[in-house]
Amino acid sequence: MDVIICKNDTEVGAYAAAKIAKVARQVGSQVTIGVATGSSPLRTYQALAAMVAAGQLDLSQGSAFALDEYVGLPFGHPQTYHEVIRKTVTEPLGLDPARVHCPNGFAEDLRQACADYEAAIKQAGGVDIQILGLGSNGHIGFNEPTSSLNSRTRIKTLTEQTRKDNQRFFASLDEVPRHCLTQGLGTIMAARHVVLVANGKNKAAAVKSVIEGPITAMFPGSVLQMHQWATIIIDEAAATELELADYYRQMYDNLPDWQRVMLPTGDVG
Ligand code: GLP
Repeated sequence: MDVIICKNDTEVGAYAAAKIAKVARQVGSQVTIGVATGSSPLRTYQALAAMVAAGQLDLSQGSAFALDEYVGLPFGHPQTYHEVIRKTVTEPLGLDPARVHCPNGFAEDLRQACADYEAAIKQAGGVDIQILGLGSNGHIGFNEPTSSLNSRTRIKTLTEQTRKDNQRFFASLDEVPRHCLTQGLGTIMAARHVVLVANGKNKAAAVKSVIEGPITAMFPGSVLQMHQWATIIIDEAAATELELADYYRQMYDNLPDWQRVMLPTGDVG
């Protein structure tokens, strides 16, 4: 696991985008990116969009798979992840909407929709690089505490904490859905690279559990300790509870150039 501690959320976005662009260039034009909703990756998408606009990155032949979708909202509701991904990812990154997929939380048969989603990821050849945010309770995607570490895409019930965390996007708590479809932890772990971004003091405890806690379904993000190519990119505020923060800083400062990423400014990060 690589841990990169950045000055602020803009720098987190720049490093995450640089990492994603590096993988995209290695894989080629048909790269498959796993995309997350939430506020944490927004700076990453902005930085990627800037690279696309500057002609430094072309994702027009790439594919994307979203992590999750609410169940219970009408199709087209602005808070469906289908809509959020369209506005924050598909359009700014110049992806072809035909190759951007979300779990179908509007399906009559939700279990079939989950199986279809797993099949679609497989058919695309798997995810090359997965972008993740982190819930304040340690969830990734919508894999709430006690999720099976081997789970695949399925229906989940949201915890009250997650509903309250996401209330800010809705007029009231009552409007926040209680159910969702989410890629499982096993699905996420099958991605070839994983980049988790987190910002702010309210994520510090969850970040600590992901990086330094025991691997436990109580903090689902901790399963990333088992991933061979996981990069955790966080700001100073999110790093405040880390016991080995100085070690991560030293480790990154002494990386050989080939392990570093090229920032949009042209500097080696
Ligand atoms: C939601 C999403 C997660 C996201 C989390 C954190 O629950 N399903 O994928 O990581 O929110 O959101 P934020 O980045 O806004 O704190």
